[in-house]
Amino acid sequence: MWYSVLQKSHLHTSVHLLKKAAHNLKGNGTAAHVHNYRCRSAFKLLEIDDKYKLLKPGFNVIDCGAAPGAWSQIAVHRVNSTGASEYNPTCGTVVGIDLLHIAPLDGAHFLSNHDITDPVTLAKLLELLPGAQPHVIMSDMAPNASGFKEMNHEKVITMSLIDLAEKVLQTGGSLICKYWDGALAHQLQQKLSAVFRDVRTVNPKASRKLFFLARSYRKNKIVWLYIFMHVVSFVHLQ
Ligand SMILES: C[S@@+](CC[C@H](N)C(=O)[O-])C[C@H]1O[C@@H](n2cnc3c(N)ncnc32)[C@H](O)[C@@H]1O
Repeated sequence: MWYSVLQKSHLHTSVHLLKKAAHNLKGNGTAAHVHNYRCRSAFKLLEIDDKYKLLKPGFNVIDCGAAPGAWSQIAVHRVNSTGASEYNPTCGTVVGIDLLHIAPLDGAHFLSNHDITDPVTLAKLLELLPGAQPHVIMSDMAPNASGFKEMNHEKVITMSLIDLAEKVLQTGGSLICKYWDGALAHQLQQKLSAVFRDVRTVNPKASRKLFFLARSYRKNKIVWLYIFMHVVSFVHLQ
C-alpha cells in the first residue's frame, strides 16, 4: 500500500514539475516575443547584468556565439551603441561573432559565419574595434557536436576565450562565459583566476546552464612578474 502511495506521489510530483517547466518555457517564450527579443536566452543575460552591472553606457562589448542576436540586443541597449539614450550621451560598441548568419541589428556589427577559434576572426575583430579595447567579452557559445568532438569543441572554445581576453580585453574588464560542469570547468576556473581578480559561478534562474563571471582583468600580470624577476636577479648580482 505504502509503495503505491509513494508511487502516486512521485508521479504527481513529476507531472507537476513537467507542467511547471512547460509553463516557464512558454512564459519566457511569450515574454521574449513581447519584448521583441530574438530568443529567450535574453533573460539569462538580463538577470546576470541586472545583478552585476557589467554593461554600462559607452562600453565596448564582444558577443561570442551571438546568433540569433538576443544578447547583442541587450548589449546595444545597455551600452547605448545606437546613441538613442536621452540620459547618457556616451556611445559604446557591440561586435557579435557566430558560425551562423546573424540578421542585422541597429547598433551592432556582426561577423556572421566566423569561428571564434580562427585567427582570421581576431584580425577582423581588431579592425572593427580600432583602438577601442573591449570592456566586456560575453559568450553563450555551445558545442555543436556530441561525444569526443563535443569535449574537444568545449575545450577549444574555452581556451579561445581566454586567449581572446589576453589579446584584446582592457585592464579591469570582465568576461562572462557559459561552461559545462566537469573536469574542464575546474581547469578553466583556475586559468581565469590567474588573470582575473574575481571569478565566480553564476546560475541564472532563467537558465539551466552555468556561467563563469570573471571580473577585474589583470592584463599585465605576466609582464610585471617577468620585470619583477629580472629586477630581483639584477639586485642579487650587485
Ligand atoms: C545558445 S546560442 C547563442 C544565443 C545568443 N546568446 C543569443 O542570445 O541570441 C550558441 C551559439 O554559439 C555559436 N557557436 C558555437 N561555437 C562557435 C564558434 N566556435 N565560433 C562562433 N560561434 C560559435 C553557435 O553557432 C550558436 O549560434
